Amino acid sequence: MAISVPFADQLALPLIGAPMFIASYPELVVAQCKAGVLGTFPSLNARSIEVLDEWLTQIETQTAAFREANPERRVAPYGMNLILHASNTRREEDLALAASHQVPLIITSVGKPDRVCGTVHAYGGKVFHDVISVLHARKALDCGVDGLILVCAGAGGHAGSLSPFALLSEVREFFDGPVALAGALSNGRQLRAAEVMGADYGYMGSRFIATVEANVSDEQKQVMLDSAASDIVYTPFFTGIRANYLRGSIVKAGLDPQKLDLPRGTPTDLFNPEKKQAKAWKDIWSAGHGVGTLHDLPTVERLVARLADEYREAVRLPSAFA
Ligand SMILES: Cc1cc2nc3c(=O)[nH]c(=O)nc-3n(C[C@H](O)[C@H](O)[C@H](O)COP(=O)(O)O)c2cc1C
Repeated sequence: MAISVPFADQLALPLIGAPMFIASYPELVVAQCKAGVLGTFPSLNARSIEVLDEWLTQIETQTAAFREANPERRVAPYGMNLILHASNTRREEDLALAASHQVPLIITSVGKPDRVCGTVHAYGGKVFHDVISVLHARKALDCGVDGLILVCAGAGGHAGSLSPFALLSEVREFFDGPVALAGALSNGRQLRAAEVMGADYGYMGSRFIATVEANVSDEQKQVMLDSAASDIVYTPFFTGIRANYLRGSIVKAGLDPQKLDLPRGTPTDLFNPEKKQAKAWKDIWSAGHGVGTLHDLPTVERLVARLADEYREAVRLPSAFA
């Protein structure tokens, strides 16, 4: 475990609310921070740099006011996700704006985070990078990132395929800095398990989609509640990179989940001509294996209070072998 865990003294739980395309808007981020969870969002959820500027101001203003009004509570800082892939033409602009707002945590994904580290470290922020393998972890550390997010098997979004036991243990052989563990975490006992395994934070995405504040339709939330791990389809079909999707949304779009191994763009009759071509994330909904134990749509505040109870109960669990 990292000797000094960034942000730990500002968190109610060792938990980061993962950034999610479409789902993570300021309402969700602010609710997470107020509840003591480090809330994050992808910068591209804001449709322009002007809107992003407004969002950053909104998150800062609302969390600062809540912090001032509730001095006894731990109100978490927030983070922004930057997609570094060349197709993101806004990445430099978004980074410059993040620097002007001094965003406490920048989460980088899909690309080399070297230039980001220089900018963020200059104002005292931290950079955590998303990885799915030891190779990517080593490359990110060479770029100077402060922490790693291990996106393991069963995670929502572009997930890895390695067991968290394997990837976390291998990474801990050469890195004792901050590590967040992602992949199907849905309750406080799992959060405690992630810590016991050697992680500093849990990283939860899908669980937060099934909340009042998430920016997705009621229909999407209901499909999540109706699904189990066996309803998650892991395929590169929609974006070229393997990701996990809800089978129910694939079927609804007129596609056959059994026939998604064709390279993207292959002329195919898979698409139902009655329906418009389905788009990943918007029509084809992503979620991780943790959906099977989601049974309600609480507010973030209620959810985090429950996670905290479960976490504390897990901390006290006796062992017949200790
Ligand atoms: C709907 C959805 C959208 C996502 N969008 C992004 C994104 O824009 N950027 C990113 O770095 N990760 C994204 N992710 C991945 C999450 O940040 C996180 O790694 C993942 O949700 C953790 O696994 P879990 O969903 O099982 O908790 C997304 C995940 C989901 C479910």
